[in-house]
Amino acid sequence: MLVSSRANAVQIKNESNLEAMRRAGRLASECLAWIVEQVEPGMTTLDIDDLQMGFARDRGVKPAPLGYRGFPRSICTSVNEVICHGIPDRNVTLREGDIVGIDVTLIVEGFHGDTAATIAVGQVSEEVAHLLCVTLQAQRRGVEAVRPGARLGDIGAAIQSTVEPEGFSVVRDFVGHGIGRRFHEDPQVPHYGESGRGLRLRPGMTFTVEPMINVGVPDVEILEDGWTAVTGDRQLSAQYEHTLEVTADGVRILTVQNDAGDWEPPGGWWPPGFPGAPGA
Ligand code: MF3
Ligand code: CO
Ligand code: CO
Repeated sequence: MLVSSRANAVQIKNESNLEAMRRAGRLASECLAWIVEQVEPGMTTLDIDDLQMGFARDRGVKPAPLGYRGFPRSICTSVNEVICHGIPDRNVTLREGDIVGIDVTLIVEGFHGDTAATIAVGQVSEEVAHLLCVTLQAQRRGVEAVRPGARLGDIGAAIQSTVEPEGFSVVRDFVGHGIGRRFHEDPQVPHYGESGRGLRLRPGMTFTVEPMINVGVPDVEILEDGWTAVTGDRQLSAQYEHTLEVTADGVRILTVQNDAGDWEPPGGWWPPGFPGAPGA
């Protein structure tokens, strides 16, 4: 979400809220994985929206983006230099070597599950694969900083210290967010910061960690459509997002396929060469 100056109380979810959040997260994860498997060169980003609409219809759930603050489609599709909030378009065709960020948010039993992955279309260059690996690693390190008693700044610091030594930059104008009955709740979760600073995490908080990482400058420009956020220098940007829950002794990732809530790449998609990936 776009950085906002308003702050409200951070909710603590009760057990029945958390159970619904787990079902929403699981379904969003299944949906993203199902879409990711079908992406190939020659598709348009509107074809991806059609997949999202079909999935939501079949499962009887609502895609949160549709109509959210006037967003015209059911999913965000962000190609190459688009950082986030790309609008599916029948004139945008995916080509071999592109990257596309796919951001799924479903509303299940009144609660939101939000997850995104940037995937390669066909084969990508080593430089592009490196951006995807670093961004995914940053997402994982950010999530691993989450436990009761830790602070929001610990998450941002973990991400920033993964990304900047590689020469990439962390987008500051968009942040992770609390999530629940509302798509975007407090707290705001910056993907940069200082460890030991910021809000103290408590069991029952639910929020996203969704770093957007640019090859070049961190600057953002919003296109004429009022949504599409692109990099200031038009170099590539990548993003991975999970929705998670602070538990009594750590973190449970809600947007994964395993019951323990252990970290998996969003949508189950591993960038080529990611250290520790199955088969890498
Ligand atoms: N899913 C995005 C996020 O991670 C928000 C998309 S808002 C929309 O916060 F309106 F563009 F869908
Ligand atoms: Co989000
Ligand atoms: Co999202």
